[in-house]
Amino acid sequence: MRVCVVGTGYVGLVTGAALASLGNSVICIDRDEEKIANLKTGNIPFYEKGLEGLVTKNLSARRLSFTTNLATGVTSSDVIFIAVGTPLRPTGGADLSQIISVTKDLVKVMAGYKIIVVKSTVPVGTSELILDIFAREGRAEGEDFDMVFNPEFLREGDALYDFFHPTRIVIGSNNERAGQKVAELFKPLIKKPEEPGIIFTTIANAKMIKYAANTFLASRISFINEIANICERVGADVREVAKGLGYDRRLGNGYLSAGIGFGGPCLTKDLKALIKMAQDHGYEPYHLKSILEKNEHQVREVVRKIKEAMGGTLYNKRIGILGLAFKAETSDVRNSNALRIIELLKDQGATIRAYDPLAMPEAKRILLSVEYARDAYSAAEGSNALVILTDWDEFKDLDLGRIKKLLATPIIIDGRNIYEPDKMAEMGFNYRGVGRQSPEANLAKGGRRTLPKTGR
Ligand code: UGA
Repeated sequence: MRVCVVGTGYVGLVTGAALASLGNSVICIDRDEEKIANLKTGNIPFYEKGLEGLVTKNLSARRLSFTTNLATGVTSSDVIFIAVGTPLRPTGGADLSQIISVTKDLVKVMAGYKIIVVKSTVPVGTSELILDIFAREGRAEGEDFDMVFNPEFLREGDALYDFFHPTRIVIGSNNERAGQKVAELFKPLIKKPEEPGIIFTTIANAKMIKYAANTFLASRISFINEIANICERVGADVREVAKGLGYDRRLGNGYLSAGIGFGGPCLTKDLKALIKMAQDHGYEPYHLKSILEKNEHQVREVVRKIKEAMGGTLYNKRIGILGLAFKAETSDVRNSNALRIIELLKDQGATIRAYDPLAMPEAKRILLSVEYARDAYSAAEGSNALVILTDWDEFKDLDLGRIKKLLATPIIIDGRNIYEPDKMAEMGFNYRGVGRQSPEANLAKGGRRTLPKTGR
């Protein structure tokens, strides 16, 4: 099929490159000339596992091309994907200005029938807005164009895996023929008949499925963080509790890792946009608001824990930070709780020496007055505590003996639960995870030591 994708952010670029690799002829469009010039030579403006290879391969196979010229892309395509950003407005709702401006440009250059597929996450009501722009220019739905809403469920860092192994393809449209045509693009991905496959539904349902999915993931994370904080106080271990929960087939075990709270460009944005959408429709979404509040509280809870471990004050303390990205396998620091935690530590007088395998260039643009270290050991050197804020694999394989020697005081606060409390206590660390029980913490509460005292 001949396809064009407007917007070369991570959703647009992953969709374009992946559709090209399925044998379609794809043109990716962006108005940013520098970005397009780089993409033409296979240079990706952000890190996404496997994407550079896929783009280069499809560029050479001439199945994928890049342009800033909307007319070129639109004229030679049957299906036009819109994958521009819908950032959060300061008032809380989704900012649709990019969607509106692309639609206005599209109307001007469109000739002949086209299927417009909206990939961007947009609130219910956006379709009316788009239809209105088309109607004003005398373009009739069903004749000149049809609209399909096809939300994405790609995780940053795992976006290609998620594209090629979809849990479901959601197609929302008023026109069955247009919906079927878009479904054709994704059919090669449905390999087994028992797989959930393609859901044909209304436009409103498709949009709500996306919002509900991201909000439910956020809800699970806030829930498990709440349980973790209670576990800590009552002598239970959240890992065991989450495992016990996950065995229940009705619940499953995803998104039950306790930590520093959720971050990134999507979960918080979509949660806030859904809250605003509900309020605009005269409904107060108490549960959704509590998910967000809990996420903000979790950041403060981590800071409280660090402070407590350091004897109640952060003033003049030097803290080594491992991890700035909002999760592992990405350089993205948007809405990263790691950055929020660092700001709060600095506010209380701590000095910070941080390291992240990929996210330091992006963090440096936002986070000032922080020393950036060349590796994890250098972040630990001379620090009064080491705090783990992103679950990078390389932090799981550290030489902990070396870390202990480098730290001024052997305190480790593990915001991602990547280590085992018992082993850390055995090694002589004052170690605290999230919702985990360490022998040290038990002793402080007057409990019994559960492990033989070794390595002290
Ligand atoms: C999320 C959704 O998972 C995707 O399905 C969706 O397509 C995407 O948003 C989007 O709307 O574009 P993403 O933002 O890449 O994907 O991040 P996730 O992998 O879902 O992680 C979000 C945050 O939750 C991270 O900070 C992560 O560390 C945290 N998390 C995740 C936890 O704290 N605990 C968990 O158990 C899982």
